[in-house]
Amino acid sequence: MSHAGHTVIVGASSGIGAALAQELASRGHTLVLIARRKAELESVAASIKDSQRGARVITVVHDVSDLDSVGGAFARASDALDGRIDRVVYAAGIMPKVLPDEFDTAKDASMMAVNVVGAMAWLNLAASEFLKRGSGQIVGISSVAGERGRVGAPGYNASKAAMTSYLESLRNRLDRHGISVVTVKPGFIGTDMLRGVEKTFGVMSARDCARVIADACERRRQSFFVPWWWGLIALAVRSVPSFIFRRLRV
Ligand SMILES: NC(=O)c1ccc[n+]([C@@H]2O[C@H](COP(=O)([O-])OP(=O)(O)OC[C@H]3O[C@@H](n4cnc5c(N)ncnc54)[C@H](OP(=O)(O)O)[C@@H]3O)[C@@H](O)[C@H]2O)c1
Repeated sequence: MSHAGHTVIVGASSGIGAALAQELASRGHTLVLIARRKAELESVAASIKDSQRGARVITVVHDVSDLDSVGGAFARASDALDGRIDRVVYAAGIMPKVLPDEFDTAKDASMMAVNVVGAMAWLNLAASEFLKRGSGQIVGISSVAGERGRVGAPGYNASKAAMTSYLESLRNRLDRHGISVVTVKPGFIGTDMLRGVEKTFGVMSARDCARVIADACERRRQSFFVPWWWGLIALAVRSVPSFIFRRLRV
């Protein structure tokens, strides 16, 4: 197996993060997988080791909303990778169900904690380490949901708009130092998160999504939609004037 680098995936116990772990292992990456659920993490690691002979996969149980423990988890990941992390993928995210007449600050705060502040805590550490070395890659899973404020999910939309903007700023800071920052904006991907979501269309499998992300990382792409045609929808949605968008109930 060729050696393609040391990758840390935060949010790797299911969905896109787990599928990306499988895909990157098949491309020769050594992996540290991070999430809260130990049994699920270990099952992802075991299935990678089953299918990829000789794959090196380490698991670290960690809750990204516990900010005081991020430094320790980052150090454990780095130690497990012989002191060298080449890439950090932030795939952790939550999207609790929010009713149209519900304005729940606790839910909104939990989304901001996991989808945004946890990302900042992990990716700031990655950025400063990569900056010292002059190389490295940061990959953040944002969403098409960050493109416009919709009626269905104000807190989730806001968290993804913040993630997209934060990643763009990181890129603008780090690109000149040789560090790649990749923003992934998925549409509907068939994972646990999508369960119970009404009115979906064009759902892509986590496995196919992972392939697209892995290719994009290799090509050091900056920002992209997956599937690609969500870029056209996003363009159309962004160009609808506010006074019309408000009436659409999307
Ligand atoms: N599925 C879609 O249609 C879709 C579309 C656009 C964007 N996205 C984004 O894609 C990313 C991955 O979501 P997914 O669809 O793969 O859903 P998922 O299967 O529910 O995966 C979410 C991952 O985040 C981890 N996570 C959640 N809270 C965490 C915490 N406090 N600490 C550490 N890890 C935590 C989960 O692990 P534990 O529960 O074990 O901690 C799990 O590994 C999310 O950012 C999501 O917003 C998904």
